[in-house]
Amino acid sequence: MVEFTLNGEAQKLDVPPDTPLLWVLRDHLGMTGTRFGCGIGQCGACTVHFNGQPMRSCQLPAAALAGSQITTIEALSHVVQEAWLEHQVPQCGYCQSGQLMAAAALLDRNPRPSDDDIDAWMTNLCRCATYQRIRSAIHAAAATLPEPEPEVPEELDDAGETDGEGEE
Ligand code: FES
Ligand code: FES
Repeated sequence: MVEFTLNGEAQKLDVPPDTPLLWVLRDHLGMTGTRFGCGIGQCGACTVHFNGQPMRSCQLPAAALAGSQITTIEALSHVVQEAWLEHQVPQCGYCQSGQLMAAAALLDRNPRPSDDDIDAWMTNLCRCATYQRIRSAIHAAAATLPEPEPEVPEELDDAGETDGEGEE
C-alpha cells in the first residue's frame, strides 16, 4: 500500500512497489495526460512534478511515492500554458504535457531564462521539433512574471556594507 498526494488529493493505492508512477497514473488512476514515450527516462514525455521537482514518472517506482506530493498536467495552472497557446507550440501534441511540466518548473526557478538556460533545462524530446516555439513561449511567459530580485553579492554583509577586507 502506498500513500501520497496527487494534485492535492490523498491517494492510497495497493500497487506492486516497482510499478512506475507513469503506469500508476495511466493504468490505475485513468489519468492519461502524462504520456508514455520511451519508458527509459530519455524523452521526458512522462514528466510530472515530484515534491516540486520535474521528474520522469517512468523512472519513479511506486515505493518512492510514500508521503510525496505529485502534480500532473491535469492540475498544472501556470502562465506558461497561456504562452503555449499564443505561440501555437503543440503540433501533434504527444510530448507537450511533459514539455509544459518541465517549462513551468524552469520558470518557477528562473523567471528570466536565457536561450542557453532553456536549452540546458528543456531536455524533453519533440518529434515535431517544436523547440523554437517552446523557447519563444517560455520567453513570452517569463515576460509576464515580475522582475527577479537583484542578487546581493556575498561579500556584502546584512547592513549592505563590505566586510572591510582591504579597507584601512
Ligand atoms: S517515457 Fe519517461 S522519459 Fe520517456
Ligand atoms: S508536438 Fe509532436 S512530438 Fe512534440
